Amino acid sequence: MKTSKIIDFLVEQGEFVDEEIEQKLNKIVQNKSLDVLQKDLTLFFKTNFPELFFDNFLKDFFSIKNSSILETKNIQPGRISILKSYEKKPNKRTVQDFVRYFNIRFKKIESMLKYRPELSGLTSIDFAKKKKDNEKISIIGAVLNKQETLNKHIILTIEDLSGSMKVLIHKDNKELIELAKDLSLDEIIGISGSAGGDIIFSKTIIHPDVPLTKELKKSPFDHSAVFIGDFHIGSKEFLTKEFHKFLLWINGKLGNLEQRKLAKSVRYLFFLGDVVEGVGIYPGQENDLEILEIKNQYEKAAYYLSKIPSYIKIIIIPGNHDVGRIAEPQLPIDREYAESLYKLPNVIMLSNPSLVSIDVSDTFSGIDVLLYHGYSMIYYSDAVASLRSKGGQKVADEIMVYLLQRRHLAPTHGSTLYIPDIQEDALLIDPIPDIFATGHIHRAQSRNYRNVTCLTGSCWTQITEDQEKRGLEPQPGRAFAISLKTREVKLMNFSIVKDSTSVSEFKRLKKESEDKLKSKK
Ligand SMILES: [Fe+2]
Repeated sequence: MKTSKIIDFLVEQGEFVDEEIEQKLNKIVQNKSLDVLQKDLTLFFKTNFPELFFDNFLKDFFSIKNSSILETKNIQPGRISILKSYEKKPNKRTVQDFVRYFNIRFKKIESMLKYRPELSGLTSIDFAKKKKDNEKISIIGAVLNKQETLNKHIILTIEDLSGSMKVLIHKDNKELIELAKDLSLDEIIGISGSAGGDIIFSKTIIHPDVPLTKELKKSPFDHSAVFIGDFHIGSKEFLTKEFHKFLLWINGKLGNLEQRKLAKSVRYLFFLGDVVEGVGIYPGQENDLEILEIKNQYEKAAYYLSKIPSYIKIIIIPGNHDVGRIAEPQLPIDREYAESLYKLPNVIMLSNPSLVSIDVSDTFSGIDVLLYHGYSMIYYSDAVASLRSKGGQKVADEIMVYLLQRRHLAPTHGSTLYIPDIQEDALLIDPIPDIFATGHIHRAQSRNYRNVTCLTGSCWTQITEDQEKRGLEPQPGRAFAISLKTREVKLMNFSIVKDSTSVSEFKRLKKESEDKLKSKK
């Protein structure tokens, strides 16, 4: 406890605490009388941190009784089961493959929709066209086209495997018209209404969605899972001090007693892509890089991750900045470039997306976690009217709900780059996970949607000109910790400088905080 209190103090003062400093401190605090300890600590501060003002800290430090450190020896790791990780090597694709791929998706989502009571009297589109006027009718199909008429009605063109037909949504049906405005092209929906020749007058629009009956699954173990993302190692803007604070916390050396207890309960650390900043991702990126070689970027990442206690399983998926193809499903990060990560005994490298079950035991089936870097989310933040009006990328959690309702990570062709697999659609959200985690948007947001915990995993890079151009407003330096026993979500904030929406604002805030620190001294 003595060492950790001193480290907390140093980090709070904005000092960088490395392994060497930690070792020196450990030696100083061992079995000494208080007088000698005070003398040694004074000398330690003066030698290693000559500009630090530490008198008040020492007064406090020697006036309180320090309790023993939280014991982290003999901790047992949790059990993990990989349910889906895409490992197929790429081969040549044809236009026919895209058709087959969409057919697989159609069949799968159709099976989710066809027994819904709202869709009674379900028929294929070629049969629907033969129905008499005003007859009740239900179909399932993909949104081929969406148009607003001069009278503000919406006309959809819906297609199934038998053909296509028009569906009219009347402007006076306010609830339905709002739903229709938010529809994305290619998404597969259920429609019910009444027949009118070649057109359906729609009364209901159904998404495959998450059933209301989904249970809030809880683990019998007092374990937690931590979610972080978008490390961007190699960038000059990597948040070294903030990540160091994170490492101290996860090692039980930072925070109050409750926060340290939480750290001690962590068994899984999920890493949601963009481990490294990469090379050649955007024009002029070399000017933003501190580490120019991709292998060296992964080596540095491995160095940081080696500081995570070995009883914590680290599950890593790739992002669009990582090495290799960016079309989804993205294969696990290539071993050739990231050997250093593969060598860490507690690291598991998976594809993007992937699905794992954690806290699995002989009597508990586990908590299912869907991991997706989140590339498609930018498209929906702009293309979907209600998401755009709520703030677009600023409501990353709402975008996740939008995808969950559609049971697909990229319902619209073109919302992400993808490889059409003719045997499976790896971007389907099936089965429904207990936790759905993404990154990419660099925000730290979470919410519960029908007992699915949705969260996005912050980032560990300060805003750059490239991010500013892309309209990202990052909330860096955060980590989510979820108790698997209670499913309570805690947001841990390790940031030092206030969030900024532009590079110029960040520079101003950073200077202000440095000036404040100097004046304290
Ligand atoms: Fe990304």
